[in-house]
Amino acid sequence: MAWLPEIRVFPRRQSLLEAAKEFTTIAGEAISKSGTFRVALSGGSTPKALYELLASEYRSRLPWAKVLFFWGDERHVPPDHPDSNYRMANEALLSRIPIKAENVFRVNSENPVAQAAATQYEGILKSVFHLEDSALPRFDLILLGMGPDGHTASLFPKSPALQERSRLVVANWVEKFKTFRITFTFPVLNNAAAVLFLVSGREKAEAAASVLDPTSDPNQFPAKMVQPANGRLMWILDEEAARNLTIH
Ligand code: 6PG
Repeated sequence: MAWLPEIRVFPRRQSLLEAAKEFTTIAGEAISKSGTFRVALSGGSTPKALYELLASEYRSRLPWAKVLFFWGDERHVPPDHPDSNYRMANEALLSRIPIKAENVFRVNSENPVAQAAATQYEGILKSVFHLEDSALPRFDLILLGMGPDGHTASLFPKSPALQERSRLVVANWVEKFKTFRITFTFPVLNNAAAVLFLVSGREKAEAAASVLDPTSDPNQFPAKMVQPANGRLMWILDEEAARNLTIH
């Protein structure tokens, strides 16, 4: 399939509302089809703003008890650490909606060995998605942000995990932060039924234009390597982040 992302640009507040609408629409479709909605959350301040919206204006739009929550990446810190993506999502969303605790599958990021935490999380995916051998989980939705360097999840430029094609979750050494991050690999991201990038802010404009330029080098911009083989690829950007785009 030709790489054809759905690209939509809005003023900042509207971009969050559009993302919330997309989230609840996809969730509703998944729940009516299979009884559950399996979503992987992202870290970052932009996704956090979406979570706060889902917990407030959109709180009543979803049967939250049918949602299974995962994380596309996590920092190698305990779940109560200020940098924890779990802690951020719990404060912004999970603690404010009627979910089932057993439906929240966080990374065991307090494990002192990052790769062990990644392997444990891979085991959770295999168990919850009932995966055999090398099968891939198919998330109903994976939410992603993008950094100014074009990273997404914890797949940073020139980091080892960019090459991973068999494991579902790995500990990825991030040189610029001198730390490990636990992250989904591209095979998982690209097996999703839908991926939604939510990108805002002028500091993302250059990377967004490079990632969404069909002629650019995917290896230089990891976010460009997210191209679901059989799923929707949506980009919702605010006007600041889209200011360098020629196509939209
Ligand atoms: C993380 C995220 C990361 C984030 C981007 C965008 O663990 O930090 O998963 O990929 O989504 O860096 O973050 P901002 O929206 O804060 O710029």
